[in-house]
Amino acid sequence: MAGGRRAAGLALGWGCCLLLCCAAASRMEVSMPAVVEVEIGDTARIECNFYIPENDSYTYINWFYIDGNNQVRLCHIVGSKVVEDNTDYKGRLSVGEDKALSISKVTVQDARTFVCQVEAGSHGAGENRSELRVYKVPETPEIVANSGGISVHSTDIPQIAQCVSRNGFPFSNITWYKNGKQLQQQEKMVKTMDTLTRESSGLYTVSSTLFARVTREDRNSHYHCTVHYWLRGQRRTMESRPVNVTVFYPAQHVKLQVMPSSMLVKEGDNVKLVCEADGNPAPVFSFYKRDLGDWQDVSSLADANSGVLYLRDVTKNSSGLYRCQTLDLDDMGQLEQDVELVVNYIEEVRVKMEPSSPLKEGDSVRLSCDANSPVALDYQWRDDKGKKVAEGNQLFLSNLTFETSRNFSCKVIAPSVPGLEQSKQVAVAVQGKPRIVAISSPLYVRQDEVVNLTCKAIAFPKPSVHWNVNGTAHEYIENQHIASNLTVRVNHDLLRAGAMCRVSNALGVSEKHIQLLVESIRKDQKTPESKGVIIVAIIVCILVVAVLGSVIYFLHKKGKIPCGRAGKQDITKPEARKDKIVVEVKSDKLSEEAGLLQGANGEKRPAADQSEKYIDLRN
Ligand SMILES: *[C@@H]1O[C@H](CO)[C@@H](O)[C@H](O)[C@H]1NC(C)=O
Ligand SMILES: *[C@@H]1O[C@H](CO)[C@@H](O)[C@H](O)[C@H]1NC(C)=O
Ligand SMILES: *[C@@H]1O[C@H](CO)[C@@H](O)[C@H](O)[C@H]1NC(C)=O
Ligand SMILES: *[C@@H]1O[C@H](CO)[C@@H](O)[C@H](O)[C@H]1NC(C)=O
Ligand SMILES: *[C@@H]1O[C@H](CO)[C@@H](O)[C@H](O)[C@H]1NC(C)=O
Ligand SMILES: *[C@@H]1O[C@H](CO)[C@@H](O)[C@H](O)[C@H]1NC(C)=O
Ligand SMILES: *[C@@H]1O[C@H](CO)[C@@H](O)[C@H](O)[C@H]1NC(C)=O
Ligand SMILES: *[C@@H]1O[C@H](CO)[C@@H](O)[C@H](O)[C@H]1NC(C)=O
Ligand SMILES: *[C@@H]1O[C@H](CO)[C@@H](O)[C@H](O)[C@H]1NC(C)=O
Ligand SMILES: *[C@@H]1O[C@H](CO)[C@@H](O)[C@H](O)[C@H]1NC(C)=O
Repeated sequence: MAGGRRAAGLALGWGCCLLLCCAAASRMEVSMPAVVEVEIGDTARIECNFYIPENDSYTYINWFYIDGNNQVRLCHIVGSKVVEDNTDYKGRLSVGEDKALSISKVTVQDARTFVCQVEAGSHGAGENRSELRVYKVPETPEIVANSGGISVHSTDIPQIAQCVSRNGFPFSNITWYKNGKQLQQQEKMVKTMDTLTRESSGLYTVSSTLFARVTREDRNSHYHCTVHYWLRGQRRTMESRPVNVTVFYPAQHVKLQVMPSSMLVKEGDNVKLVCEADGNPAPVFSFYKRDLGDWQDVSSLADANSGVLYLRDVTKNSSGLYRCQTLDLDDMGQLEQDVELVVNYIEEVRVKMEPSSPLKEGDSVRLSCDANSPVALDYQWRDDKGKKVAEGNQLFLSNLTFETSRNFSCKVIAPSVPGLEQSKQVAVAVQGKPRIVAISSPLYVRQDEVVNLTCKAIAFPKPSVHWNVNGTAHEYIENQHIASNLTVRVNHDLLRAGAMCRVSNALGVSEKHIQLLVESIRKDQKTPESKGVIIVAIIVCILVVAVLGSVIYFLHKKGKIPCGRAGKQDITKPEARKDKIVVEVKSDKLSEEAGLLQGANGEKRPAADQSEKYIDLRN
């Protein structure tokens, strides 16, 4: 039962098989791909599939290639034996288990049709064919831009760049792009010239040259080329790097400006007039200055290549209208631009003095300052030490003395023009006959002692000092004062008559007498004990004053005087306003004060009173 069922299944299977086999037997079918693609250098594998019914084997298999009208046999297979024919392919062929034909190291020449023919005895023969296509991806396109500049005015369509893509198969195409946008051929505007070269290897090198007109905007354009090729039935592309070209174009605008522009120009400044044109290459620059209606060529002061006119240390004469003119050497076009240069200045600073007559001590004077300038001015007054003493264009000086006599300057400032200022000095000279401000009199001396007689005076014009005694005089100037030291040896005549200092200038004479008083040899030298006596005396004095109080102070006025006199005696003369001679006298003994006072009053002074003296000459 089970075997019968199996037999029935088998019979059904056979029936089916027979149907198929009969269909196949009627015409033996060989199946092959229509196209086999392989990259040059690789191995191509061409399959050949067939079906022979009833487990029959093939009698033989032939592989051919088609050469024109001929079929050239490559090999034949009988049983499991492969016999290669003597063709160009010898050595590059192999047949697999599945009877597929492999061709190694495929070349361009291998691009042809291959035929597989199968003969299977009673089942007849069948064949089919495959087209072997070979390909080679071309190399990345190389692009070379026109290295010279390209003028927008060029008469021919100028060459932009050349693009080459080598060793492709089959041949490829090159297209061009500007700023990423494909360029189309356009009459008199865009043109390409393509060449195709077949290399000895059979590969193709394509090259293309782009010609296109340029505009000034193209100074920023970039160009690239793309190679298009086929690969396994698909369109592929490869791009070159982008390149740019130098475009020559005439200037359209010219700009002329004063530098530095941030600041107002003043006399003495170094100024540049900078002319800029937007052409490439830069045009030739010329500069002119308008002078009395004519344009004077001042290009000699300029760097014609860079378009900068240098004006150094400008004066108000440098003011005016300047022109920059550009000449384009390509199309001989000219452009021009003007700029006004304003040089600010302050000139003719004048100081008027009222009264203008010579000034005397005690006079007052008014100084007025004035100047010329195109801009508003501020005035300041400074003394000869540079210190600001007043603002405004007037300065009033009263109670003039020789000492106040000095140089003032009027400083004129233009606040609107940073750094613009001028000043003018004026001497306020107080004139008059000399005034003796210090004299070393009376002078306590010893016989035969070498002493200095000092006389100090002030005057304008500068006075001269004369002494009526012989000696060595030294004159020196100190803060407008003139002082003279006369070094003399004390003798009898000098003691008797004293000395006379005579100071004179063109406006008069002043004289002062120096009295010399003899101090005898001191009896007691200054010792620590005598200092102690002074201290005790001062303490006693303070005690007396403290204890007795003001009422008793008046009652004991006589006893108090020594304390009050133990200080300084100012011998400044009434007319001495600034300079003083201070004679400091210190006594050893309070009891000697009366005698000292007497001496100071011009009387003959008791000897041995004086122990120490200071002469302090101050300004
Ligand atoms: C060749 O093979 C292909 C693919 O198998 C098949 O479609 C075609 O009919 C065959 N041609 C011939 C003539 O047998
Ligand atoms: C074909 O051969 C196989 C073994 O090689 C065998 O099993 C099969 O029965 C055979 N078929 C025919 C129809 O002869
Ligand atoms: C090359 O250009 C021609 C004509 O424009 C075109 O027919 C062809 O398909 C192009 N080939 C490739 C690979 O782009
Ligand atoms: C190309 O462009 C680069 C960068 O924009 C620039 O530096 C170079 O000078 C250009 N070359 C030319 C020939 O214009
Ligand atoms: C300015 O020009 C005037 C007249 O042309 C001349 O007299 C004067 O010297 C010039 N001043 C300067 C500073 O060049
Ligand atoms: C100028 O001198 C007079 C008289 O000596 C005096 O009254 C006046 O105050 C002085 N003026 C000044 C500014 O010193
Ligand atoms: C004042 O100026 C004159 C000349 O400018 C100069 O000789 C004199 O020394 C100056 N006087 C003072 C006090 O600066
Ligand atoms: C006297 O004056 C002269 C010159 O001025 C000076 O060199 C000298 O030191 C003075 N002598 C005394 C004692 O001050
Ligand atoms: C002038 O003489 C006086 C008195 O001797 C002295 O103090 C002073 O230094 C002298 N002046 C000069 C410049 O030597
Ligand atoms: C000063 O010395 C000269 C000679 O050297 C003499 O003739 C004259 O009398 C002297 N004068 C006085 C005041 O001593």
